[in-house]
Amino acid sequence: MAARGPQPVEQLLPFEALAELKALQDEIAVHDRRYHAEDAPTLSDADYDALKRRALAIEQRFPDLAVGISKQVGFAAQEKFGKVRHRVPMLSLDNAFLDADVTAFLDRARKTLGLGASEPMRVTAEPKIDGLSCSLRYENGRLVVAATRGDGTEGEDVTANVRTIASIPQVLKGNPPAILEVRGEVYMAHADFAALNARQLSEGKPVFANPRNAAAGSLRQLDAAITASRPLSFFAYAWGEVEPMPAATQSDMVRFFAGLGLPTNPRMALCQDADGLIAVYRGLEAERAGLGYDIDGVVYKIDSLAQQRALGFVSRSPRWAIAHKFSAEKATTTILDIDIQVGRTGALTPVAKLKPVTVGGVVVSNATLHNADEIARLDVRVGDSVVIQRAGDVIPQVVSVLADLRPGNTSAFEFPHVCPCDLKTEVRAEETAQGVTGAIRRCSGEFACPYQRIEHLKHFVSRRAFDIEGLGEERIELFFADGTLKTPADIFTLQRRDAASLKKLKDREGFGAKSAEKLFSAIEARRSIALERLIFGLGMRHVGETTARDLARHFGSFEALQTAAGAVDGVAKLTAVEGIGETVARSVIGYFSESHNLALVTALLAEITPTVSEPIAASGAEGPLAGETIVFTGELVEMSRDDAEARARALGAKTTGSVSKKTTLVVAGPGAGSKLQKAAELGIRVVDEAEWMAISRLT
Ligand code: IVH
Repeated sequence: MAARGPQPVEQLLPFEALAELKALQDEIAVHDRRYHAEDAPTLSDADYDALKRRALAIEQRFPDLAVGISKQVGFAAQEKFGKVRHRVPMLSLDNAFLDADVTAFLDRARKTLGLGASEPMRVTAEPKIDGLSCSLRYENGRLVVAATRGDGTEGEDVTANVRTIASIPQVLKGNPPAILEVRGEVYMAHADFAALNARQLSEGKPVFANPRNAAAGSLRQLDAAITASRPLSFFAYAWGEVEPMPAATQSDMVRFFAGLGLPTNPRMALCQDADGLIAVYRGLEAERAGLGYDIDGVVYKIDSLAQQRALGFVSRSPRWAIAHKFSAEKATTTILDIDIQVGRTGALTPVAKLKPVTVGGVVVSNATLHNADEIARLDVRVGDSVVIQRAGDVIPQVVSVLADLRPGNTSAFEFPHVCPCDLKTEVRAEETAQGVTGAIRRCSGEFACPYQRIEHLKHFVSRRAFDIEGLGEERIELFFADGTLKTPADIFTLQRRDAASLKKLKDREGFGAKSAEKLFSAIEARRSIALERLIFGLGMRHVGETTARDLARHFGSFEALQTAAGAVDGVAKLTAVEGIGETVARSVIGYFSESHNLALVTALLAEITPTVSEPIAASGAEGPLAGETIVFTGELVEMSRDDAEARARALGAKTTGSVSKKTTLVVAGPGAGSKLQKAAELGIRVVDEAEWMAISRLT
């Protein structure tokens, strides 16, 4: 049974977010490789976008956990091509999905530019071509080098291949600037794609899944003769280095390109406001199928280059442009069954098993029904005809039931009261951190539930918990599957058991004497562990890192915490801790009231010694930085972010993950993005790492 549940991002706990981010990062890397390096994607663009959107949404909500997905653009160049360093980086675009995102984009730009509501701000709207971007460098009007985007900084040298594209001039007409880097999209038109695939078929060669892959596979051929036999096209829409600049607006620049003999898209429009842009979007959406080439949205760009310069960039995307993507595709099919899947947090997710149907080129046979409320709302039943869509979520969704087509013999779906795990543990309606009883049903078995146990173990060894080097998710999976590790205590008895065992770890595939030793000593090193890491590592619901830290500081020892949780007035004792409310208190009490948890903790405490971390001044208490609320963002060079935050707290400051009105100082390293922007908007003091080091040393 698959364990991925589409838990809404707002409901994720930090450890869930971290685990999911890591999983998403790996998944995205696999698809990046298939798409960029192998030209053989196994995921549709919409599904890939969905993965990225989910990762970005999680990174936005948990900025401290960010693994940098928002900073990644494309894929590193392959070794087989020569490399070209882009003198001006090739950037990516932020995405808009809703009309409201477009309005927000314009509002933000106006605000940053200090434009009043009545002052004009012109914006271009043009098709977002679904091909691959390419940079063409002309010197004194002659094409000298062409490169793919690669990782945005360095691309592949595809000059020989680009020279075979008929519509790209080798020599520009008219009066080109001495240096002109033209950027645009290499794509394959529908008719050319169909002819190419027909030819491939007749020659017994594999066909391409879509025009984009055909274009990518054709451009990135080591043998330019093959590229020459593939019908590629190009639209110029942007630029890199240009000297001297011949125009002052985006639209004039593209017109100038056309005058030089470069192909440009005829559908570019100039608009004044969101209504205008959205009208172009709707128009293109309606005409999409008849355009003759694939587009996956509309790109809006602030027209004035002076305004573009003033707006600048966030991370790897310009603030002056956005891609308004077309929405998900829909299809109709029948529900064959409704399955219940147990996610890593014990959340029960109903999944519709569908009669397989193609949606946007991908065969779909499962769709999420989210939760019990959603089933009730749709009144979806086995046998129903339903409309499904692949949108922002990782798994396709059921959007509506076609009631008229319902067969006569169906019955309403009854949500199970026990977990499908063999324990038959009770299923409870989930309470959120705000104490609201929501639609999510959760198995109460926690560590005892086999579906949850492995995730608990992964969380236990994760970076912010026990952080055991050499014992990552993959090895946990391996050890869990073969029964080597079932509980956290098993980790600490591993070496002893191994010594007594005939089948030694060092003899196992993937290990050796050295790596087994390394693992054992990494485990040894964690026999002494900060109390807050232990509390966090146990994975009690609603107990994130901050709560774990608050509990550790307040109670000082694990025993004191356990005693408080077991006391008659446990709720009062726990809510006495600053920052802890009733829901969290009840969750902690609930944890200690389960016998399987007590057994787990007792066995673990027989192996490890929690240490009270160095006494850190509580927030708002004494210290030279008392009263300060500091946010660290971007990369730090001198010390890790954890260490920097610990230092700040040791000096009496409060540290938080997001910038708000309460923030008094932002320490920003390279790569800082939205937090920096927010700080600027709120007028909060921003310092770099060097300044921060000086502050923290002086104080
Ligand atoms: S402008 C600095 N305009 O979309 C902005 N990009 O998701 C440069 N794309 O990497 C890009 N059509 O490969 C721009 N009309 C268009 C586009 C377009 C397609 C691609 C391009 C870019 C990607 C970003």
